[in-house]
Amino acid sequence: MTTLGVIGGTGWLGGALLRPALAKGFVAPADLILSSRSGKTAGFEPWPNIRFVTDNKSLAAQADIVILSVRPEDFDALDLDLSGKLVISVMARVPAETLLARFKSERIIRAMPNACAEQGLSFTPWLSAPGTNTADAAFADSFFACSGRTTKLSTESELDYFTALTGSGPAFIAAFADVMIRDAIENGVAPDVADVAVRQLFLGASTWIAGAAETPADTVSTFTEYGGTTAAGLTAMYAAGVAGPISKGLAAAKDKAAKG
Ligand SMILES: NC(=O)c1ccc[n+]([C@@H]2O[C@H](COP(=O)([O-])OP(=O)(O)OC[C@H]3O[C@@H](n4cnc5c(N)ncnc54)[C@H](OP(=O)(O)O)[C@@H]3O)[C@@H](O)[C@H]2O)c1
Repeated sequence: MTTLGVIGGTGWLGGALLRPALAKGFVAPADLILSSRSGKTAGFEPWPNIRFVTDNKSLAAQADIVILSVRPEDFDALDLDLSGKLVISVMARVPAETLLARFKSERIIRAMPNACAEQGLSFTPWLSAPGTNTADAAFADSFFACSGRTTKLSTESELDYFTALTGSGPAFIAAFADVMIRDAIENGVAPDVADVAVRQLFLGASTWIAGAAETPADTVSTFTEYGGTTAAGLTAMYAAGVAGPISKGLAAAKDKAAKG
Protein backbone atom coordinates (compact mmCIF):
# COMPACT_ATOMS: atom_id res chain seq x y z
CA MET A 1 0.00 0.00 0.00
CA THR A 2 1.38 3.39 -1.03
CA THR A 3 0.28 6.33 1.10
CA LEU A 4 -0.06 9.71 -0.59
CA GLY A 5 0.24 12.87 1.50
CA VAL A 6 -0.73 16.23 0.05
CA ILE A 7 0.49 19.32 1.87
CA GLY A 8 -2.06 22.05 1.12
CA GLY A 9 -4.28 19.31 -0.33
CA THR A 10 -7.53 20.98 0.74
CA GLY A 11 -6.64 24.13 -1.22
CA TRP A 12 -8.03 25.05 -4.59
CA LEU A 13 -5.62 23.18 -6.86
CA GLY A 14 -5.16 20.28 -4.44
CA GLY A 15 -8.89 19.58 -4.51
CA ALA A 16 -9.12 20.06 -8.27
CA LEU A 17 -6.40 17.42 -8.79
CA LEU A 18 -7.47 15.00 -6.08
CA ARG A 19 -11.22 14.76 -6.72
CA PRO A 20 -10.73 13.36 -10.28
CA ALA A 21 -8.01 10.97 -9.00
CA LEU A 22 -10.34 9.76 -6.20
CA ALA A 23 -13.36 9.52 -8.52
CA LYS A 24 -11.35 7.39 -10.97
CA GLY A 25 -10.09 5.12 -8.19
CA PHE A 26 -6.44 5.99 -8.89
CA VAL A 27 -6.08 7.09 -5.25
CA ALA A 28 -7.87 5.16 -2.50
CA PRO A 29 -9.34 7.44 0.20
CA ALA A 30 -7.82 5.34 3.00
CA ASP A 31 -4.37 5.86 1.43
CA LEU A 32 -4.68 9.65 1.33
CA ILE A 33 -3.63 12.23 3.94
CA LEU A 34 -4.28 15.94 3.43
CA SER A 35 -2.81 18.74 5.48
CA SER A 36 -3.69 22.38 6.02
CA ARG A 37 -2.96 24.85 8.82
CA SER A 38 -6.66 25.57 9.41
CA GLY A 39 -7.83 21.94 9.44
CA LYS A 40 -10.36 22.43 6.67
CA THR A 41 -11.93 19.33 5.12
CA ALA A 42 -14.51 20.82 2.73
CA GLY A 43 -14.73 19.38 -0.77
CA PHE A 44 -13.97 15.78 0.20
CA GLU A 45 -17.31 14.77 1.79
CA PRO A 46 -17.85 11.79 -0.58
CA TRP A 47 -14.65 10.15 0.77
CA PRO A 48 -14.96 9.92 4.60
CA ASN A 49 -11.90 7.66 4.91
CA ILE A 50 -9.45 10.41 3.93
CA ARG A 51 -7.22 11.45 6.84
CA PHE A 52 -6.90 15.20 7.54
CA VAL A 53 -4.06 16.62 9.62
CA THR A 54 -2.75 20.04 10.61
CA ASP A 55 0.73 18.75 11.35
CA ASN A 56 2.94 18.29 8.29
CA LYS A 57 5.46 16.21 10.26
CA SER A 58 2.73 13.65 10.96
CA LEU A 59 1.82 13.64 7.24
CA ALA A 60 5.48 13.21 6.31
CA ALA A 61 5.92 10.30 8.74
CA GLN A 62 2.96 8.41 7.23
CA ALA A 63 3.32 9.19 3.51
CA ASP A 64 5.46 7.42 0.91
CA ILE A 65 4.76 10.10 -1.69
CA VAL A 66 4.33 13.77 -0.78
CA ILE A 67 2.69 16.33 -3.06
CA LEU A 68 3.38 19.99 -2.24
CA SER A 69 0.45 22.27 -3.07
CA VAL A 70 0.91 25.40 -0.96
CA ARG A 71 1.29 28.87 -2.43
CA PRO A 72 4.91 29.87 -3.17
CA GLU A 73 4.76 32.52 -0.41
CA ASP A 74 3.96 29.76 2.13
CA PHE A 75 6.83 27.54 0.99
CA ASP A 76 9.37 28.96 3.45
CA ALA A 77 7.31 27.67 6.38
CA LEU A 78 7.75 24.06 5.22
CA ASP A 79 10.70 22.50 6.94
CA LEU A 80 10.52 18.73 6.62
CA ASP A 81 12.88 15.83 6.14
CA LEU A 82 11.39 13.87 3.24
CA SER A 83 14.54 11.88 2.47
CA GLY A 84 13.84 8.71 0.50
CA LYS A 85 10.32 9.82 -0.45
CA LEU A 86 9.00 10.87 -3.84
CA VAL A 87 8.27 14.62 -3.63
CA ILE A 88 6.02 16.13 -6.29
CA SER A 89 5.60 19.91 -6.36
CA VAL A 90 2.85 21.73 -8.24
CA MET A 91 4.19 25.06 -6.95
CA ALA A 92 5.19 27.70 -9.44
CA ARG A 93 8.44 29.60 -8.85
CA VAL A 94 10.21 27.02 -6.64
CA PRO A 95 12.95 25.24 -8.63
CA ALA A 96 13.86 21.57 -8.23
CA GLU A 97 17.25 22.47 -6.74
CA THR A 98 15.54 24.38 -3.90
CA LEU A 99 13.13 21.48 -3.27
CA LEU A 100 16.00 19.01 -3.19
CA ALA A 101 17.97 21.09 -0.69
CA ARG A 102 14.95 21.80 1.51
CA PHE A 103 13.48 18.30 1.75
CA LYS A 104 16.66 16.21 1.46
CA SER A 105 15.15 13.97 -1.21
CA GLU A 106 16.65 13.46 -4.64
CA ARG A 107 13.34 12.05 -5.92
CA ILE A 108 11.86 15.37 -7.04
CA ILE A 109 9.18 15.92 -9.70
CA ARG A 110 7.77 19.32 -10.65
CA ALA A 111 4.44 19.58 -12.47
CA MET A 112 2.34 22.49 -13.66
CA PRO A 113 -1.40 21.72 -13.86
CA ASN A 114 -3.98 24.40 -14.53
CA ALA A 115 -7.40 25.61 -13.44
CA CYS A 116 -9.17 23.11 -15.73
CA ALA A 117 -8.04 20.10 -13.66
CA GLU A 118 -11.36 19.65 -11.85
CA GLN A 119 -13.09 19.17 -15.21
CA GLY A 120 -10.41 16.68 -16.30
CA LEU A 121 -9.19 19.20 -18.89
CA SER A 122 -5.85 20.38 -17.50
CA PHE A 123 -2.72 20.32 -19.62
CA THR A 124 -0.04 19.25 -17.14
CA PRO A 125 3.61 19.23 -18.17
CA TRP A 126 6.01 17.69 -15.66
CA LEU A 127 9.70 17.30 -15.14
CA SER A 128 11.67 14.77 -13.12
CA ALA A 129 15.03 15.29 -11.39
CA PRO A 130 17.83 12.76 -12.07
CA GLY A 131 17.25 11.06 -8.69
CA THR A 132 13.79 9.78 -9.68
CA ASN A 133 13.13 6.30 -11.04
CA THR A 134 10.78 4.88 -13.67
CA ALA A 135 8.08 4.07 -11.11
CA ASP A 136 8.18 7.67 -9.79
CA ALA A 137 7.70 9.05 -13.31
CA ALA A 138 4.89 6.57 -14.02
CA PHE A 139 3.08 7.55 -10.79
CA ALA A 140 3.30 11.26 -11.58
CA ASP A 141 2.16 10.83 -15.17
CA SER A 142 -0.79 8.61 -14.16
CA PHE A 143 -1.81 10.89 -11.28
CA PHE A 144 -1.89 14.01 -13.46
CA ALA A 145 -3.55 12.09 -16.32
CA CYS A 146 -6.58 11.69 -14.01
CA SER A 147 -7.19 15.44 -14.43
CA GLY A 148 -6.20 15.99 -18.06
CA ARG A 149 -3.43 15.54 -20.58
CA THR A 150 0.20 15.31 -19.58
CA THR A 151 3.58 15.70 -21.21
CA LYS A 152 7.10 15.09 -19.92
CA LEU A 153 9.53 18.00 -20.26
CA SER A 154 13.32 17.92 -20.18
CA THR A 155 14.29 21.29 -18.71
CA GLU A 156 13.13 23.62 -15.98
CA SER A 157 13.24 26.51 -18.43
CA GLU A 158 10.52 24.72 -20.46
CA LEU A 159 8.49 24.25 -17.28
CA ASP A 160 8.76 27.99 -16.56
CA TYR A 161 7.50 28.71 -20.06
CA PHE A 162 4.57 26.29 -19.65
CA THR A 163 3.81 27.86 -16.26
CA ALA A 164 2.96 30.97 -18.30
CA LEU A 165 1.44 29.31 -21.37
CA THR A 166 -0.85 26.65 -19.90
CA GLY A 167 -0.52 27.12 -16.11
CA SER A 168 -1.69 30.75 -16.28
CA GLY A 169 -3.40 30.21 -19.65
CA PRO A 170 -7.00 29.79 -18.40
CA ALA A 171 -6.84 33.27 -16.82
CA PHE A 172 -5.49 34.74 -20.07
CA ILE A 173 -8.41 33.22 -21.96
CA ALA A 174 -10.72 34.64 -19.27
CA ALA A 175 -9.20 38.09 -19.92
CA PHE A 176 -9.98 37.74 -23.66
CA ALA A 177 -13.55 36.72 -22.80
CA ASP A 178 -13.88 39.67 -20.41
CA VAL A 179 -12.77 42.11 -23.13
CA MET A 180 -15.46 40.69 -25.45
CA ILE A 181 -18.17 40.87 -22.75
CA ARG A 182 -17.30 44.50 -21.99
CA ASP A 183 -17.35 45.33 -25.70
CA ALA A 184 -20.77 43.70 -26.08
CA ILE A 185 -22.14 45.69 -23.12
CA GLU A 186 -20.71 48.93 -24.55
CA ASN A 187 -22.53 48.06 -27.76
CA GLY A 188 -25.86 47.84 -25.94
CA VAL A 189 -26.10 44.10 -25.22
CA ALA A 190 -27.68 43.34 -21.81
CA PRO A 191 -24.94 42.18 -19.37
CA ASP A 192 -26.56 38.79 -18.69
CA VAL A 193 -26.95 38.11 -22.42
CA ALA A 194 -23.37 39.25 -23.10
CA ASP A 195 -22.11 36.91 -20.37
CA VAL A 196 -23.98 33.87 -21.66
CA ALA A 197 -23.13 34.64 -25.31
CA VAL A 198 -19.39 34.92 -24.71
CA ARG A 199 -19.23 31.86 -22.42
CA GLN A 200 -21.02 29.83 -25.10
CA LEU A 201 -18.70 31.29 -27.75
CA PHE A 202 -15.60 30.16 -25.82
CA LEU A 203 -17.07 26.72 -25.11
CA GLY A 204 -18.01 26.21 -28.76
CA ALA A 205 -14.82 27.64 -30.22
CA SER A 206 -12.58 25.72 -27.76
CA THR A 207 -14.34 22.44 -28.50
CA TRP A 208 -14.11 23.08 -32.21
CA ILE A 209 -10.42 24.10 -32.12
CA ALA A 210 -9.50 21.14 -29.88
CA GLY A 211 -10.97 18.64 -32.33
CA ALA A 212 -10.17 20.31 -35.65
CA ALA A 213 -7.84 18.60 -38.10
CA GLU A 214 -6.50 21.99 -39.22
CA THR A 215 -4.26 24.18 -37.05
CA PRO A 216 -5.52 27.46 -35.54
CA ALA A 217 -3.23 29.25 -38.03
CA ASP A 218 -5.00 27.41 -40.89
CA THR A 219 -8.37 28.49 -39.49
CA VAL A 220 -7.27 32.14 -39.39
CA SER A 221 -6.02 31.87 -43.01
CA THR A 222 -9.21 30.21 -44.21
CA PHE A 223 -11.37 32.96 -42.71
CA THR A 224 -9.04 35.73 -43.92
CA GLU A 225 -9.07 34.36 -47.48
CA TYR A 226 -12.86 34.10 -47.39
CA GLY A 227 -12.88 37.90 -47.25
CA GLY A 228 -16.06 38.41 -45.20
CA THR A 229 -16.83 40.12 -41.89
CA THR A 230 -14.54 37.74 -39.97
CA ALA A 231 -11.68 38.67 -42.31
CA ALA A 232 -12.36 42.37 -41.66
CA GLY A 233 -12.18 41.73 -37.91
CA LEU A 234 -9.06 39.57 -38.09
CA THR A 235 -7.26 42.02 -40.38
CA ALA A 236 -8.03 44.91 -38.02
CA MET A 237 -6.95 42.92 -34.96
CA TYR A 238 -3.63 41.85 -36.51
CA ALA A 239 -3.02 45.38 -37.90
CA ALA A 240 -3.52 46.69 -34.34
CA GLY A 241 -0.82 44.27 -33.14
CA VAL A 242 -2.97 41.74 -31.24
CA ALA A 243 -0.03 39.29 -31.15
CA GLY A 244 2.27 41.76 -29.35
CA PRO A 245 0.39 42.08 -26.03
CA ILE A 246 -0.20 38.31 -25.90
CA SER A 247 3.53 37.61 -26.33
CA LYS A 248 4.38 40.30 -23.77
CA GLY A 249 1.97 38.76 -21.26
CA LEU A 250 3.46 35.30 -21.74
CA ALA A 251 6.99 36.70 -21.39
CA ALA A 252 6.10 38.52 -18.15
CA ALA A 253 4.52 35.39 -16.66
CA LYS A 254 7.50 33.22 -17.68
CA ASP A 255 9.85 35.78 -16.17
CA LYS A 256 7.94 35.69 -12.87
CA ALA A 257 7.96 31.87 -12.92
CA ALA A 258 11.70 31.75 -13.54
CA LYS A 259 12.77 34.46 -11.09
CA GLY A 260 10.63 33.26 -8.20
N1 LIG B 1 -4.59 27.72 -8.88
C1 LIG B 1 -4.05 27.38 -10.07
O1 LIG B 1 -4.66 27.49 -11.16
C2 LIG B 1 -2.65 26.80 -10.10
C3 LIG B 1 -2.13 26.31 -11.31
C4 LIG B 1 -0.85 25.74 -11.31
C5 LIG B 1 -0.12 25.69 -10.14
N2 LIG B 1 -0.63 26.21 -8.99
C6 LIG B 1 0.16 26.14 -7.76
O2 LIG B 1 -0.56 25.41 -6.80
C7 LIG B 1 -0.19 25.84 -5.49
C8 LIG B 1 -1.44 25.98 -4.66
O3 LIG B 1 -2.27 26.96 -5.24
P1 LIG B 1 -3.81 27.06 -4.88
O4 LIG B 1 -4.41 27.95 -5.91
O5 LIG B 1 -4.40 25.74 -4.64
O6 LIG B 1 -3.74 27.88 -3.49
P2 LIG B 1 -4.70 27.73 -2.22
O7 LIG B 1 -6.11 27.52 -2.63
O8 LIG B 1 -4.40 28.90 -1.35
O9 LIG B 1 -4.22 26.39 -1.53
C9 LIG B 1 -3.06 26.32 -0.78
C10 LIG B 1 -3.41 25.56 0.48
O10 LIG B 1 -2.22 25.39 1.22
C11 LIG B 1 -2.58 25.38 2.60
N3 LIG B 1 -1.37 25.70 3.34
C12 LIG B 1 -0.65 26.85 3.36
N4 LIG B 1 0.41 26.74 4.15
C13 LIG B 1 0.39 25.47 4.64
C14 LIG B 1 1.23 24.75 5.51
N5 LIG B 1 2.31 25.30 6.07
N6 LIG B 1 0.92 23.47 5.78
C15 LIG B 1 -0.18 22.89 5.24
N7 LIG B 1 -1.04 23.52 4.42
C16 LIG B 1 -0.74 24.80 4.12
C17 LIG B 1 -3.68 26.40 2.73
O11 LIG B 1 -4.59 26.06 3.74
P3 LIG B 1 -4.49 26.77 5.19
O12 LIG B 1 -4.52 28.24 4.94
O13 LIG B 1 -5.67 26.25 5.92
O14 LIG B 1 -3.21 26.31 5.74
C18 LIG B 1 -4.40 26.29 1.37
O15 LIG B 1 -5.59 25.54 1.45
C19 LIG B 1 0.58 27.16 -5.67
O16 LIG B 1 1.94 26.94 -5.37
C20 LIG B 1 0.45 27.49 -7.14
O17 LIG B 1 1.64 28.04 -7.69
C21 LIG B 1 -1.88 26.75 -8.93
